[in-house]
Parts: sequence; structure tokens; C-alpha cells
Amino acid sequence: MRKSPHVIVAKCLEFIYPRRSEFSARFYDNMFVALPQAKKLFVSDRSQQEKLLFHAIANIERSMMNGKSPDRDLIEFGRMHAHAGVKREYFAVFGEIFLSTMIEFLPNKNRKILVAAWWSSYNEIAEIMIAGMELEKTKKRFEHNVFRKSC
Ligand code: HEM
Repeated sequence: MRKSPHVIVAKCLEFIYPRRSEFSARFYDNMFVALPQAKKLFVSDRSQQEKLLFHAIANIERSMMNGKSPDRDLIEFGRMHAHAGVKREYFAVFGEIFLSTMIEFLPNKNRKILVAAWWSSYNEIAEIMIAGMELEKTKKRFEHNVFRKSC
């Protein structure tokens, strides 16, 4: 039987777990090279942010692997990212950098399987987060228009 993409990604993240701090630091270094315009959006303590991101992705993958649907959390995450100023086009680069950093930290086998599993599961996560971002932006636009008319 074929393993679900979430099982494959969750297992890879489990493998990386003992080196999660090094992984996360590397991921952010790589991301800020690929997406320098995103750097100014990160205003909180970087080491804290590094921990939160690894745990968030590992938890999402684990719960999807167990057949749970973290849609509500992902919508909320998306809303929060809209407030942080994240643009939808950043998601592709973020996914690419996360994958290439995982490859750096994993043994050089089954790379093809990981690549396919990553894009399948990451697209699912990103689509829901982006929907949450769009909802938040629509809400803000609506509030802005209503406020303008009532003044
Ligand atoms: C799978 C996709 C993603 C996940 C799971 C994720 C997860 C997280 C988490 C857990 C936080 C911290 C929330 C908190 O402080 O409570 C965060 C914050 C943030 N994320 Fe993401 N993120 C994702 C995608 C992105 C993308 C594509 C960008 C754009 C480059 C981005 C930019 C940010 C920014 C700017 C913050 C706020 C940082 C700060 O306050 O300094 N994230 N994200």
C-alpha cells in the first residue's frame, strides 16, 4: 500500500527533530536570501520564531497523517499571516526553501518520494492558509469601505 504524503513528510520531520534548531536557522537563512523582501515582516525574536515554525509544520503534518483536519487552525494561521503582511506569492518560495532545506538534512535516498510527498502535502496546507489570508483581506476591505461611507 502507498504511504500518504503526510506520513512521509511527518517521518522526515521526525528524523530531523534532533537537529530542529540547526534546521530552522538554516531554513530562515536560505529563505531570506531567496525572499529578501520578506525579512522586514519578521519582527519577533528569531530563535522563538524558528522553534514555532518547525513545531507548527510538524504538528500539522502529524495531525493530517492521523486523518485529522486542521483546517480551522490553518484558516486562523492564514488570517494571522495577512496581518503580518505576507503575500500569497511568497508561499511557493517558502515551500521550495523548506523542501531544499529538508533535503540537506536527510540521507540521500528516496529523494523523489519526498519531493512528491512534500508538494502534495504542502499545497494542501498552503491553499487553506491562503484562503484564510484572502478572507482576512476581504474583511479588512469591507470594514474600510463601511467606515469610509459612515464618516
Ligand atoms: C506552511 C506554511 C506556514 C506555516 C505553518 C507558518 C507558521 C508560522 C508560525 C507558527 C508563526 C508564529 C505565530 C506566532 O507568533 O504565534 C508564523 C509567523 C510568521 N510567518 Fe509563517 N508560516 C507559514 C508560511 C509563511 C510564509 C509563506 C511566510 C512569508 C514569507 C510567513 C511569514 C511569517 C511572518 C512574517 C510571521 C510573523 C513573524 C513575526 O512576528 O516576527 N509564513 N508563521
